[in-house]
Amino acid sequence: MANPETQYRRPARLIHWAMALLILASIPVGVWMTQPGLDRSLQNTLYIFHKNSGVLLLILIFVRIAYRLGNKPAPLPADIPEWQHRIAGLSHLGLYSLLLLMPIAGYVRVRAGGFPIESLDALGVPSLVPRSDALAEVAKTIHYFGGFAIAGLIAMHIGAALYHGVVRKDGVFSRMWPPFGRSTD
Ligand code: HEM
Ligand code: HEM
Repeated sequence: MANPETQYRRPARLIHWAMALLILASIPVGVWMTQPGLDRSLQNTLYIFHKNSGVLLLILIFVRIAYRLGNKPAPLPADIPEWQHRIAGLSHLGLYSLLLLMPIAGYVRVRAGGFPIESLDALGVPSLVPRSDALAEVAKTIHYFGGFAIAGLIAMHIGAALYHGVVRKDGVFSRMWPPFGRSTD
């Protein structure tokens, strides 16, 4: 049986998997909704999903970072070489940075461009950035290139997780799986 002292706690797992599901939907939806010639009402629906789930991701990443700063994860198994520790640490830092950058850039692109974010508008939350086409363009470029960066890092991350889970079977995968694990916390 997996040793609970080597695993992520339940809040970390829940937020990891909730965000993973939302992001794995947001990336293809983001690409799809920007394709030319798409049916207008389908495009609108995709935009509404993408913008509003992105705002949810923005809120979740703040909660996640706050939780992570207060709850250091258990150490990796002792037989994982030092260079893999370092690469895992750097790639997680890269993921956290992009998880923050992507929704912020998306938010600025939409608000500076003068467009709605339906959930925030319904709650009466005013725009936090001024209306500016130049700012919207910069944010759009950051969001565009950041999309490639986060998709690449996520592909590497999933590859590494599956390598540990399927090939090495060294317990690293079950540090984060299943989403409802380690119920003692
Ligand atoms: C799709 C978006 C995903 C993102 C943005 C993401 C992000 C992250 C981050 C930032 C961490 C580090 C947690 C920390 O130390 O605070 C992590 C850990 C982990 N993730 Fe993901 N993840 C994603 C999807 C997945 C998927 C699909 C799998 C499995 C196939 C997976 C498996 C794992 C595992 C096993 C760990 C624990 C690694 C360790 O032992 O340190 N993740 N993930
Ligand atoms: C982690 C969160 C997010 C990810 C991974 C993500 C990913 C993407 C991707 C891959 C694209 C297609 C590439 C492109 O044309 O730029 C895209 C487009 C877009 N995203 Fe996001 N996005 C996120 C959050 C948001 C948020 C919070 C908003 C706004 C509130 C937003 C608004 C947009 C808009 C408006 C476009 C179309 C870009 C344009 O042509 O102007 N995104 N997103």
